[in-house]
Amino acid sequence: MGVLVNVRLCFVCLGNICRSPTAAAVMRHRVAQADLGDRIEIESAGTSSWHIGEPPDERSVREALRRGIAMHDRGRRFDTADFDRFHLVLAADYDNAATLRALARGPDDERKVHLLRSFDPLAGGDLAVPDPYFGGTDGFAQVFDVIDAACVGLLEHLTAGPLAE
Ligand code: 4NP
Repeated sequence: MGVLVNVRLCFVCLGNICRSPTAAAVMRHRVAQADLGDRIEIESAGTSSWHIGEPPDERSVREALRRGIAMHDRGRRFDTADFDRFHLVLAADYDNAATLRALARGPDDERKVHLLRSFDPLAGGDLAVPDPYFGGTDGFAQVFDVIDAACVGLLEHLTAGPLAE
């Protein structure tokens, strides 16, 4: 990627109301803590159209607020043209990554797609962020921790690589 003034990230899950808006909010928080808010732009999207225009799931919002983080993103669907705007497209799980790769127009787009958890050096063999939508409230706390660990790793990757001076 070379030295970039700005890095644009898009977090992607299925509905864009639980995992990806949580990841976007957590990453914005971590980026602000690192004083890199003017270098890293963050959005989120879904691979489905089910929740376009909707606010995030209340259970995700509550868990994030419990950690001092506000969530703002409205549901939208990832579009092929988004590959032009973003340097990295971070999929919550394998299905979302496969959908994104199917939308890619070629190797340049495809190379942008990564599993979010691949940036967590302590993640095990399964690199999916579990889908909390149909589970209980506990799931949302666990998913938050999984996402936070991945965002910390992603920020380390960016500061060591694309954002290094
Ligand atoms: P997300 O969770 O992909 O993390 O936003 C889901 C949200 C909604 C649905 C599934 C997963 N749904 O079936 O409507």
